[in-house]
Amino acid sequence: MILTVTLNAALDATWSVDSLRPRTSHRVDDAQERAGGKGINVARVLGVLGHDPVATGLAGGATGRRILDELHSARIRSEFVAVAGESRRTLAVVSRDDGDATVFNGRGPSVTAAEWQLFHRRYAALAAAARVVVLSGSAPPGLPADAYAQLLRTAAAADALTVLDTSGPDLLRALEARPDVVKPNAEEIAAATGQTDPLRAAAALCSLGARTVVASAGADGLHAVTPEGTWRAVPPERLTGNPTGAGDACVAAIAAGLDAGSAWPDILRRAVALSAAAVPCPVAGEVDTAVFRRLLPRVVVETLPPGPGR
Ligand SMILES: Nc1ncnc2c1ncn2[C@@H]1O[C@H](COP(=O)(O)OP(=O)(O)OP(=O)(O)O)[C@@H](O)[C@H]1O
Ligand SMILES: [Mg+2]
Repeated sequence: MILTVTLNAALDATWSVDSLRPRTSHRVDDAQERAGGKGINVARVLGVLGHDPVATGLAGGATGRRILDELHSARIRSEFVAVAGESRRTLAVVSRDDGDATVFNGRGPSVTAAEWQLFHRRYAALAAAARVVVLSGSAPPGLPADAYAQLLRTAAAADALTVLDTSGPDLLRALEARPDVVKPNAEEIAAATGQTDPLRAAAALCSLGARTVVASAGADGLHAVTPEGTWRAVPPERLTGNPTGAGDACVAAIAAGLDAGSAWPDILRRAVALSAAAVPCPVAGEVDTAVFRRLLPRVVVETLPPGPGR
């Protein structure tokens, strides 16, 4: 089983307007709402791949209940722990004239020490039944600075493989617990390491504790620095659409590949095709399976010499 963790679950709203103009009012002709947060998006994509993941995390208040109801209707098994604070909302306003989205992100509820301990106990039981644990997104206010490191150690003690997709101090602090895979994008890896070259940046994250680094770079594909080798994988075409959520599809493919015990070149080929197949879909957590099947045989996976420090 694959377990996904979303510490800061959200109710994601998408509103469509003809043309977004600041300081004016707008008629909203289409308003959609669904459960979100990166771990939940990963669980959705895993569902499309035929997996039956379990989604856990923290959710609270009326917004938290809406998130759980929506997961139930999407047939995603959920094991969220309730917190007293109100879960966050996000709003994406999509302007139809240019296709651009303007996004507002709520910060999320403040989590108490007792709530964190309760979650950690529930999580330990779930991780014990998991082969792969995916930890995605930012942490809500109030959690200990080493929250992700604690969760990574618990998963490793339960013999589960871990995939971490977070950024900034949350990412750096988690590396001490030796995640099996981290998946930063170009901006995140540069911010964390001060390096823009993906192989040097990946080497820096490995020296801090990551076992494998999959550094994604939008339409340019990804670099993977693993104990078994170093690869570059590139999508056969640049797709247009909404790239938000492509990284979550990439993480879903990595988790599925680890769960299946696949070799890294196979995992990377599928990760690139699946994440590219997320781009034509308007909302995060969806993938176009026809695009995935069309691209998969044409993804180029190139073996690179071992990078610095390997
Ligand atoms: N325009 C595109 N065309 C083809 N493939 C793409 C495109 N954008 C992204 N991808 C694929 O998606 C992967 C992840 O993209 P990216 O680096 O943008 O992730 P991210 O910024 O982490 O996304 P997220 O919003 O989900 O966090 C890339 O490695 C690539 O395989
Ligand atoms: Mg990302």
